Amino acid sequence: MAPPPEPREHVLADGTRIVVRALLPEDRDELRERYVELSPRSRRLRFVSAPVQLSERLLDHLLDVDFDARYAIVARLADEPGTPGVGIARYARRADDPSIAEAAVTVLDGYQGRGIGTILLTRLVEAARTAGITTFVADVMWENHDLLGALRNVGATVVPEEPGIAAVRVDLPPTVEGLRESPLYEVMRTVVAT
Ligand SMILES: CC(C)(COP(=O)(O)OP(=O)(O)OC[C@H]1O[C@@H](n2cnc3c(N)ncnc32)[C@H](O)[C@@H]1OP(=O)(O)O)[C@@H](O)C(=O)NCCC(=O)NCCS
Repeated sequence: MAPPPEPREHVLADGTRIVVRALLPEDRDELRERYVELSPRSRRLRFVSAPVQLSERLLDHLLDVDFDARYAIVARLADEPGTPGVGIARYARRADDPSIAEAAVTVLDGYQGRGIGTILLTRLVEAARTAGITTFVADVMWENHDLLGALRNVGATVVPEEPGIAAVRVDLPPTVEGLRESPLYEVMRTVVAT
């Protein structure tokens, strides 16, 4: 277990203050509740299986973090009562290759497009680089032809994973300063726009 990241405050372009902190066991109920608020599209992009709700087993899995091989952070609205969670980002290192991690960033639909995803991705890359991870991978359905084509065009590698599922791989920039110009950032923008 590595030390969890210290909470850090960020200010969005519109002045909204958010706090990004480690995912904690006490976030379980909120995670369950917020998941059902996601649009079907956001659910499908986050989980290929897009369950209607998160099972207790999946919640156990999502909350099982050690801040080294399995890392997760949440973004919360600093000025709202109860500092509600609006976004989450995680990576999980692959057992067969410690330089590769499955990664995911999710922002509640009503809060997308305000810079929260970029902040979470920046923090995730920072942590992953420190942990020696150089490549992120995520699953996408093969039937998502347009998205896979667009992701290839911005520098991602697309390889077969399981039947019906493609693994999209993209290298991390060497430093977070280079994130906005990197293929990884283009992958996030492409997911949003396609
Ligand atoms: C992908 C996701 C995390 C991005 O979060 P976000 O908070 O909307 O991201 P940001 O506001 O930081 O925007 C990132 C970029 O996308 C662009 N963008 C965001 N929303 C957009 C929209 N509706 N239309 C066009 N572009 C958009 C932003 O302009 C920004 O690009 P820029 O820096 O060139 O201006 C979010 O859309 C999401 O949760 N989607 C569902 C789950 C998912 O697809 N996760 C990724 C795979 S695991």
